[in-house]
Parts: sequence; C-alpha cells; structure tokens
Amino acid sequence: MSRYSAITGWGKYVPERVVTNADFERIVDTSDEWITSRTGIKERHMVSPGESASSLSIRAAREALERANLTGADIDLIIVATVCGDYPFPSTANLVQHAVGAQCGAFDIQAACSGFLYGLTTAHQFIANGAAKHALVIGVEVLSRVVDFTDRTTCVLFGDGAGAVVLSASEEQGGVLGHTIGSDGAKPELLYIPAGGSAEPLTEEGIRAGRQYVRMQGGEVFKFATRVMGTAMEEALAQAGMTASDMDLFIPHQANLRIIEAASKRLGLPPEKVFVNIEHYGNTSAAAIPIALCEAINQGRVYPGAHLGMVAFGAGLTWAATVIKWTAPVPTHERNQQVSGRSTTLVEEPATV
Ligand code: ACO
Repeated sequence: MSRYSAITGWGKYVPERVVTNADFERIVDTSDEWITSRTGIKERHMVSPGESASSLSIRAAREALERANLTGADIDLIIVATVCGDYPFPSTANLVQHAVGAQCGAFDIQAACSGFLYGLTTAHQFIANGAAKHALVIGVEVLSRVVDFTDRTTCVLFGDGAGAVVLSASEEQGGVLGHTIGSDGAKPELLYIPAGGSAEPLTEEGIRAGRQYVRMQGGEVFKFATRVMGTAMEEALAQAGMTASDMDLFIPHQANLRIIEAASKRLGLPPEKVFVNIEHYGNTSAAAIPIALCEAINQGRVYPGAHLGMVAFGAGLTWAATVIKWTAPVPTHERNQQVSGRSTTLVEEPATV
C-alpha cells in the first residue's frame, strides 16, 4: 500500500563561532570583495573543539522531534547524510540513534551536497511501502575539519552546520510528490579528499602534502552545477505533474550565488520565489537544504499548500531533486532563533494559504 510522506518536524543547529571574510583576509591571499562577488558568501559558522557531526546532528534532531511532537522512541528509521562523520565507522546515525533514545535502524548516506535529498528520497520509500511511520533525516557537515586553510580556492567556501526533518506517514495528499537522484562517477577527482580511504591510506608523506584535505576543480564543478540543477529540478517536477511555474518556493543547494541565479533563470523563476541564505552560512554541503528550509519556515515563506522545489549537486558527482507539497501547520508563536551566531528573536508570520 502506498502512503504519503510529509515533513512534520524540522530543526537546525549551527555552531556559535562565526568566521567572516575579513577573518580569511588575515590567513590567505583573498578579499571580502572577491569572495562576495564570486560566491555571495559573507560569513560562515565553524565548530569549536569538542563539537562534531554527531553533536550538531543531535541538537538539530531534538528540535525536529519536538516540533513533530514526538520522542526518539517514536522514530522507526534514522538517516544521516554527511561526508564528515564523527568516525570512518561507526556511522554518525548510530550515535544520533542512541542520543535521541530511538530503537530503530540507523545509517549514514554519503552523497556529498546531494546527501540530504538522497536521504529524504530513501526515507520516503520506507514510509511509502509501510516499513516506517516516522523517519528522522539529518544533513550535517563539519567541513572546517577537512579543508586546507592554506588553499584559498576552497577554504573560503565552506561552513559547518546541521539540519533535520521528521518525515511521517500521512493519509493527506501531499508531502513528497516527486524525486530524482543521479550520479556520474567518471571523474571523482573533480571534488574529493584524495587520502584517508582504502585507495590511499594516510601516510606521513601524504599528510605533509595535504592529501587529507578537500581538493576541487572549481570551474568544472561550476559548469556541471549550472547544467544539472535545472534538469534535475524539472525531472522531479515532471514526476509530480508540475512545471517550474507551479513552485511557490525554490530551495536550491547553497554553494554559490551565481550557480543559484543561473539555475533560477533557467527555470524562469523570479527572485522572490528563490530562497538564498548562503551569505550567512557558506556551503554547508548536506546541511544546506535543511538549514535553508528551517529558515524559510521561520520567515513565513512556507505554509500549508505551498509547493517547494529543492535541488542539490555535489561531489561524486551527484545530484538530487525533490518536490514537496507542504502540509504541516506552521507555528505563529514567537520563538528564539539563532541567526548567524547571534541570538535574535524572530516573530513568524501567520501562515497564509
Ligand atoms: N580569493 C582570491 N582569489 C581567488 C580565490 C580566493 N578565495 N580563489 C581563487 N582565486 C583566484 C584564482 O586563483 C584565479 O586566479 P588566476 O586567474 O590568477 O589563476 C582567479 O581567482 C579566478 O579563479 P576561478 O577558479 O576561475 O574563479 P571562479 O569565478 O570560477 O570562482 C569558485 C571559483 C567560487 C570556486 C567557483 O568556480 C565555484 O563556485 N565552483 C563551484 C564549486 C562548488 O560549488 N563546490 C561545491 C560542490 S558541493 C560539494 O559536494 C561539497
């Protein structure tokens, strides 16, 4: 029996430490002007000693569970999307499962920046076929631990954070209406960490050469991203019986403002239908879309009946897109929200239909 699966809880957590473009001006040959004009990024959050993928995930997960009015005991499946897990093994999902008091299967998905939508698609299958009633899907990255802070072509781009959703079975028409995932592994070296895996175990020589850090051919990834974002989104929309103009809000992966603008143009979307928060977070990889979703909800841009289009691309190369018809009530009460490391009180707009 096929069932609908809808987001019923959401939460995010970003570390308190904020690193600005001016901070990078002091450590590499770069400028606020270059970073802002080429990427749209002004600042990003980074972990402090003692924080890790699991600690960020657990905070986001607890918020999502509270919003869904559930406890860990209600969860039937936990998926964590990350390339920065606490350990090569066990999975970060194992650690989250224990911390939230869940008794269910838990595993990590590794699809780089596309990971959260890969996870959402996977959880949707478990719910649609009746194997799970409530799934916790988390996107988390701690890229500050794997970037080379002497390489200006990568270190300015990334940030740390986590976003989580609870996906629940529903009888109401809506939730995940269309989805696609894709992979092209022909050129892994376009964006990868060369050493530390079974292909190239870490050696002292490798560490001296910085082979434990992210390496990227930015221009090639840029071209791929502008190509794939539009086609992937259109594929998921077609599956939902929709076109781009039916989307009320487009929540793309936040890697580069110019990539977002190119994808939006290709889809014919006006700026007011496109959610952008890269300025404050940089590229948080698998965490970018769930963090953006939480902020869009807090800003009153998500409401019952709204059609959301989400699309991501990442290392692999991978891509994924999901179309959601939002069904959950959106709270209107006043809450404390953490924005860019500063504690700010945001008043959510009443939901509009
Ligand atoms: N500050 C100043 N100058 C810089 C910096 C910097 N931080 N980084 C690069 N430059 C220089 C380059 O060295 C180059 O100088 P040169 O002409 O003297 O050689 C010049 O700026 C232009 O470099 P380009 O790489 O051509 O710059 P471009 O406009 O392509 O922007 C960027 C680079 C921002 C990386 C862009 O290509 C991009 O965003 N690509 C996509 C990357 C991406 O999205 N990656 C994440 C994928 S998701 C995942 O899975 C994690």
